[in-house]
Amino acid sequence: MKLNIACIEGDGIGPEIVTEAKKILDKVALVYGHEIVYTNVLLGGASIDVHGVPLTDEAVEAAKAADAVLMGSIGGDTTTSPWYKLPPNLRPEAGLLGIRKALNLFANLRPAVLYEELSDACPLKKEISSAGFDMMIMRELTGGLYFGERHTTEENGIRKAVDTLTYDENEIRRIAVKGFDIAMKRKKKVTSVDKANVLDSSRLWRKVVDEVAVDYPEVTLEHMLVDNCAMQLVKDPAQFDVILTENMFGDILSDEASMVTGSIGMLASASLNDSKFGLYEPSHGSAPDIAGKGIANPIATILSAAMMLRYSFDLDKEADAVENAVKSILKKGYRTIDIMSEGCTQVGCKEMGDLLADEIN
Ligand code: IPM
Ligand code: MG
Repeated sequence: MKLNIACIEGDGIGPEIVTEAKKILDKVALVYGHEIVYTNVLLGGASIDVHGVPLTDEAVEAAKAADAVLMGSIGGDTTTSPWYKLPPNLRPEAGLLGIRKALNLFANLRPAVLYEELSDACPLKKEISSAGFDMMIMRELTGGLYFGERHTTEENGIRKAVDTLTYDENEIRRIAVKGFDIAMKRKKKVTSVDKANVLDSSRLWRKVVDEVAVDYPEVTLEHMLVDNCAMQLVKDPAQFDVILTENMFGDILSDEASMVTGSIGMLASASLNDSKFGLYEPSHGSAPDIAGKGIANPIATILSAAMMLRYSFDLDKEADAVENAVKSILKKGYRTIDIMSEGCTQVGCKEMGDLLADEIN
């Protein structure tokens, strides 16, 4: 099979971790007889440095021309980087939001898994973590507060800022359908998270999710308020299978869920549209403080590449091979510094990529 992949290395540790993910994809291609063509695309700070803007039309076109996009990370240190002296619509993050919208990537999948080998890194009490957990956060990614009207004004010396949270039923329905579809392949439970005791947008969310649920009689649906969900994630994370939620709540809850795993450097993500097309990136950020030091953990990006093989190319065997390589290397005791624990062997970013590539054969 021929795989056309657009690569966005991005900023901070982005180039290092994408290099290792490509190493793994190349090994998969070699072993399973595929051909990969990569196209480099600039986004975020890397694009600002070259073009003066975080996202160009050419970048959008190049991404659209590919079958899938592999991304590292976007953004720099918000207090020291010159990118953050630019107006908000020209900063690195605006490029990321722009490409999500331009490619219609409305469904963001963020798995949060407690790896048995890394359970010591879980900050929860043993009696909670011992149950293990494996949840999928389904975050709506192209609507809500992120894309509503916003403005800042000043009247009679009083500054005022407005952001608006809007959803129409079609936007809710399409993400709900994806959420239920994914639940059907997992433990068949959906927890839909909202703030229906206060927000109109949440009350509509709840109604539409209930309507979609009718088509999935095998899936158990529950509704949960977002503040309660934040609490339940640390109290009893094992109760969750698929968490279905809107953009802003999903942003916050997915960071919380990843922290609870104790290993944010391990967590992948996929952002999908209506077709097989997707953008795959680690759940973590660009970590400018460790960029260029060769110590970043490439596993989240490598697992994102595995999600790409699975969701965009239907190459389940190949995706399994990558995920099994990760488990096997963890079992053998190799760790990057972020997940290091006593008795293990510490390796750098490149070494981790080499070890994982050797594991696939
Ligand atoms: C994320 C990030 C982005 C978001 C930022 C960088 C705009 O936090 O992907 O979760 O809020 O969506
Ligand atoms: Mg976030």
